[in-house]
Amino acid sequence: MSKKPVRVAVTGAAGQIGYALLFRIASGEMLGKDQPVILQLLEIPDEKAQNALKGVIMELEDCAFPLLAGIEAHSDPLQAFKDTDYALLVGARPRGPGMERADLLAANAQIFTAQGKALNAVASRNVKVLVVGNPANTNAYIAMKSAPDLPAKNFTAMLRLDHNRAASQLAAKTGTKVGDIKKLTVWGNHSPTMYADYRFATTNGQSIKALINDQVWNAETFLPTVGKRGAAIIAARGLSSAASAANAAIDHMRDWALGSNGEWVTMGVPSNGEYGIPAGIVFGFPVTTENGEYKIVEGLEIDAFSQECINKTLAELQGEQDGVKHLL
Ligand code: NAD
Ligand code: LMR
Repeated sequence: MSKKPVRVAVTGAAGQIGYALLFRIASGEMLGKDQPVILQLLEIPDEKAQNALKGVIMELEDCAFPLLAGIEAHSDPLQAFKDTDYALLVGARPRGPGMERADLLAANAQIFTAQGKALNAVASRNVKVLVVGNPANTNAYIAMKSAPDLPAKNFTAMLRLDHNRAASQLAAKTGTKVGDIKKLTVWGNHSPTMYADYRFATTNGQSIKALINDQVWNAETFLPTVGKRGAAIIAARGLSSAASAANAAIDHMRDWALGSNGEWVTMGVPSNGEYGIPAGIVFGFPVTTENGEYKIVEGLEIDAFSQECINKTLAELQGEQDGVKHLL
């Protein structure tokens, strides 16, 4: 017997990540090849955006995906999030010319306050929320705080792109395959301050730290390469990463929904005080996932270098959080 369709809301659906994401969700790459989906797409009311969304929907129809059980176009989050089981919050206000970080935070605080309230009002009580739009951790925090009737643990931010970028760099450095790399994580904020940590990672069962054995490479090459990868892509493409961001969103949701088979993955999730991160801060942690739930990997030793890196990314996140406090 075929499964009952689930509802997947995607915001910013006519944007470039949306274009790389929707077709993969509809083909079953996110929730499984046996799971029908109804797409509930949100764009701003602007005529150009709504027209672009119509075009994307025509293309989705033309793919004749057997798992695509319905498509809806919306400009109101209260309609887009109705009964939704999964919400991918991709749409955000990009930084414009002359815009300071504080202005960007304030503009996005408005969007994610409204969307958090709408999720609180109409989404499934078990909705799984992934925030992709930047600043992703703080936007997830704002949405979570704006949805007091939903479990805080259901609000997550995307650190998976940083995780995948780190895995790819480590595979190249060790001359091994990316699929052989286990127990890698990225701590903190989705920003250049994130701390990609391979101290526990293995490739084909061998310690990556022992294989590389070069702390100068770690501090001066690896961390800046992963941290500034988004900027490097913008410089090369003239546009921010889209296909790799969409791919990471698929990975994040798939693993959350279907399980990571005991492997570590990185998710930005609200802290319960683990590793001294104050409760409520949405922070990149190593997690394992099973039966639709994630669990932070606990008990890892944090050495002096790692603590310094974690403190730095935490301080940045606390600064962002302080900057939006008055808006919540
Ligand atoms: P884009 O500008 O191509 O598309 C964004 C879309 O969102 C636009 O179509 C816009 O109309 C829409 N939008 C804006 N405000 C909205 C709202 N309130 N409700 C619904 N839709 C809204 O941008 P993109 O390249 O698709 O990137 C989207 C976001 O993802 C950006 O904030 C980007 O910085 C971020 N991003 C995050 C990561 C990550 O790893 N977390 C990686 C890459 C990009
Ligand atoms: C990325 O990591 O590629 C993006 O977050 C970059 C950006 O600023 O949009």
